[in-house]
Amino acid sequence: MCGIIAFAERGSVAPHLIKGLERLEYRGYDSAGLAVMSDSVIRTCKTTKRVAELEAKYNSAPFYGSVGIGHTRWATHGAPTERNAHPHLSEDGHFAVVHNGIIENYEALKAELLNEGHVFKSDTDTETIVHLVQKYYRGNFLKAVLNAAKRLEGTFAAALMCIDEPDTVIAIRNFSPLIIGIGKDKTVASSDISAVAEHTKKAVYLNDGEAAVLRPDSASFYNFNGEPVEKELTVLDVGSGDYGKNGMAHYMLKEIFEQPDAVRRTLGAHIKNGEVAFDFSLFDGNAVRNIKKICFVACGSAYHAGVAAAAVFRALTGIASYAFIASEFRYMEPMTDSSTLVVPISQSGETADTLASLREAKRRGARTVGVVNVVDSLIAKECGDVIYTCAGQETAVATTKGYTTQLAALYMFAIWFGRELGALAAEREAELTKSLTQLPHALEIVLRSDAHAKKHASDLKDASSMFFIGRGLDYAAALEAALKMKEITYIHAESCPAGELKHGTISLVEPGMRVFAFLSQPVTASKTVNNIKEVRARGAYTICCAPQSIAERLTDIDELIVLPDIEPLFFNIIEVVPFQFYAYYTALARGCDIDKPRNLAQSVTVE
Ligand code: F6R
Repeated sequence: MCGIIAFAERGSVAPHLIKGLERLEYRGYDSAGLAVMSDSVIRTCKTTKRVAELEAKYNSAPFYGSVGIGHTRWATHGAPTERNAHPHLSEDGHFAVVHNGIIENYEALKAELLNEGHVFKSDTDTETIVHLVQKYYRGNFLKAVLNAAKRLEGTFAAALMCIDEPDTVIAIRNFSPLIIGIGKDKTVASSDISAVAEHTKKAVYLNDGEAAVLRPDSASFYNFNGEPVEKELTVLDVGSGDYGKNGMAHYMLKEIFEQPDAVRRTLGAHIKNGEVAFDFSLFDGNAVRNIKKICFVACGSAYHAGVAAAAVFRALTGIASYAFIASEFRYMEPMTDSSTLVVPISQSGETADTLASLREAKRRGARTVGVVNVVDSLIAKECGDVIYTCAGQETAVATTKGYTTQLAALYMFAIWFGRELGALAAEREAELTKSLTQLPHALEIVLRSDAHAKKHASDLKDASSMFFIGRGLDYAAALEAALKMKEITYIHAESCPAGELKHGTISLVEPGMRVFAFLSQPVTASKTVNNIKEVRARGAYTICCAPQSIAERLTDIDELIVLPDIEPLFFNIIEVVPFQFYAYYTALARGCDIDKPRNLAQSVTVE
């Protein structure tokens, strides 16, 4: 969701901006643009199509300069049109801005500026920033930017240029991430570590309320009062990496096949000599014994990992454990105090609602341990302790390896927690840990069986609706399977706890409708079998997914997906894989843009 890239350098900046925008594409966007300081004029190029189109458009009428800013926009205020695409210029063309986040008081600011005679050219909240800078400008660019920044409420990261200081970019930050890279003859600002790491490993993280003044050979830092700030230089621990598709048609397919290795890396980071160990700085065995409640807080697929984790934690620790959708949790009446452990789960480490929930929980005194993929992301940095998932870069918007590595990390955490609490017998702990180490191999087996999904994609592609049902941990799998299907195929796909069907949802079941059922849990499988009978009796076509030991007892179903028998508590991790394939091949058959589904962003940095 929205990405910023900006350079002050000595060479021609536009190719670097375009390359940087390509790197940001995975976040999701609906328009893109760049601005370059060229012969004392700020010149822009924008598109409502892909970055490749932006590049072609720029190449058809190039302009040269060594300082520039670029942006991928995911529309919030104003339609995804060229006039709303960033960068936005001030009325006099003196200043340009790109911005991530939301200016919450933009209506009041815009009214003030309109009243003073400013003329706006877009419907965005962003444009108010550049008008404010123009309003406050008295020959000192930094001062004008800081005066404007102090008027802004909400979340923002922004980069600005001014024609009177043609070798300078100023970057500001409040709540939205912004990283400054300091290279040789070049400084770079970006919302994304990978776009910086490509140019330099020396970086500085801006904090809330800070600004950076970037020139090709210097970077200086200030707070919004204009006082200089000393910043610590960090060495980025990310490779500039191979972000290609590795010969696969889509990033999503590549990432599906990366799951065994990604899960192996995640487990390998914390399982030593057959035992789970974490090197927490705050959350030790004593802290564990004070915990009365555990809240997993996340959005989308990460929330589904939380639903599964809550069930596993209840089983292995006996502590009241719940999963909450972060956008709900952040506004709930006191859900937390010092006896609560809050576990934010986030692949990107940037999701606005998850971050806000974390801050609210901390404000109320909760202990926090995050499960995060992106190293040094905002959520990772603000949690008391972090368990990193080692998924590597996830480029497809629909998460696959991000989700399964979250499950792996959470399973390890549950075993560790149960042991530290004394709730888990040594024998059971050893058995569970061994089962964890077998998960990568089980994933490899499941990945060999995409034939089912390929075969059914041609029938499924014309479906108008389908259902996914299960109980307990199987319901968590149903949630994730339905989300994968709907987000990339645009087919209505609904998950429902199997026992809840007859309380309303079953009225939607029609002859021929596909109902997918999950049956991995020995205690509840026979109950779900009854629900399968109910929908079959109403003409539904049922496709069931079960481990060998349960599958061989099933009768009266239409299709069966048989998976290896593994520890039932950990079954979600393999159970979702066939449905990643179902979603992928159905989307392929429908001709959908699989890696960049409509309206979606990979990283949701606004509320
Ligand atoms: C679905 C998907 C989203 C994310 C959600 C949270 O395929 O990718 O539902 O899981 O937006 O994102 P993170 O984990 O980055 O906080």
